Amino acid sequence: MTNVERVYEFLEAAGTYYLATIEGDQPRVRAFGTQLLYEGKLYIQTGKIKPVSKQIKANPKVEICAFKDGQWLRLSGVLEEDDRREVKKAMLDKMPSLRAMYNEDDGNTEMLYFKSGEATFSSFVAPSEKVII
Ligand SMILES: Cc1cc2nc3c(=O)[nH]c(=O)nc-3n(C[C@H](O)[C@H](O)[C@H](O)COP(=O)(O)O)c2cc1C
Repeated sequence: MTNVERVYEFLEAAGTYYLATIEGDQPRVRAFGTQLLYEGKLYIQTGKIKPVSKQIKANPKVEICAFKDGQWLRLSGVLEEDDRREVKKAMLDKMPSLRAMYNEDDGNTEMLYFKSGEATFSSFVAPSEKVII
């Protein structure tokens, strides 16, 4: 399994993760649950009308934290928008429940991938492990 696959699988299994952005000098954090592995890159999904999207546009440095079975993941990195329809479709096909709010052509659906990222897997019982995605 590659590093990015490992991070993706952890997020899949955790179900929910928490995404931190920066607004001026104020951290903002919220629950997220979308992840997609596409062309070897880790994507997340949001809506362009949301504050989170505007914060990422102004400063694409983000951090994610997820917890599962006594292990936690911290992923920091830089996001980049990918406006391709095929990527939006892949996300919406993977999580059809999103189609209640989004579609590929709504001008709102936004796919962002980690252009660079550093993930740390930690637990109370083993040394932390750092990987580059
Ligand atoms: C479990 C859970 C998963 C969520 N997943 C997402 C997600 O993947 N993308 C998204 O844009 N919003 C998601 N949301 C909704 C956001 O948390 C919510 O819209 C939040 O207010 C966005 O942050 P903002 O207000 O700073 O823009 C999720 C909410 C919950 C409770």
